[in-house]
Amino acid sequence: MDQDTVQNFPVDWEDDNYVTRREFMKFGTLASGAFAAGSLGLAAWSKVKKDGPEFEPQQIALVHDIQPGAALPFNFPRSKDLCLLIQKPDGEYVAYGRRCTHLSCPVVYEAEEHRLFCPCHNGAFSVEDGSVIQGPPPHAIPQIMLEVRGDAIWATGVKKHGDESHEA
Ligand code: FES
Repeated sequence: MDQDTVQNFPVDWEDDNYVTRREFMKFGTLASGAFAAGSLGLAAWSKVKKDGPEFEPQQIALVHDIQPGAALPFNFPRSKDLCLLIQKPDGEYVAYGRRCTHLSCPVVYEAEEHRLFCPCHNGAFSVEDGSVIQGPPPHAIPQIMLEVRGDAIWATGVKKHGDESHEA
């Protein structure tokens, strides 16, 4: 190589090849790491999406706070999530989210009709499973999973339309 070439191209062909391979390997390693991290993130996200968020069980009432044929509002799993605890006339406890699945109006329990009623557009849901029995709501109202522990009633999870229950 003449002096002019050495100045303009200070890395000769052998070294240039070496640098390129090293850079390629570095890029390959970084890309593999990024791919692995992305896959792990995607797997974690899919699991969260599939299993739903986990909730801490919460005591929502004492058994003597409610009578057969009555309803009691509570919040679960977050303080902004309105729900309704119902004691059916046969004594069984059930609970549902309180927001109508149509346009989120609050539903009310109608014991004599055995339903949750939404006065905004005459929507109604079954007290048995939260399914739509009337009006425009597009799907069932989320059901809150309950457990009676001693004299206390606990909310332990949320079962949404088409989902398995998400126990706390
Ligand atoms: S908001 Fe409940 S029926 Fe429309």
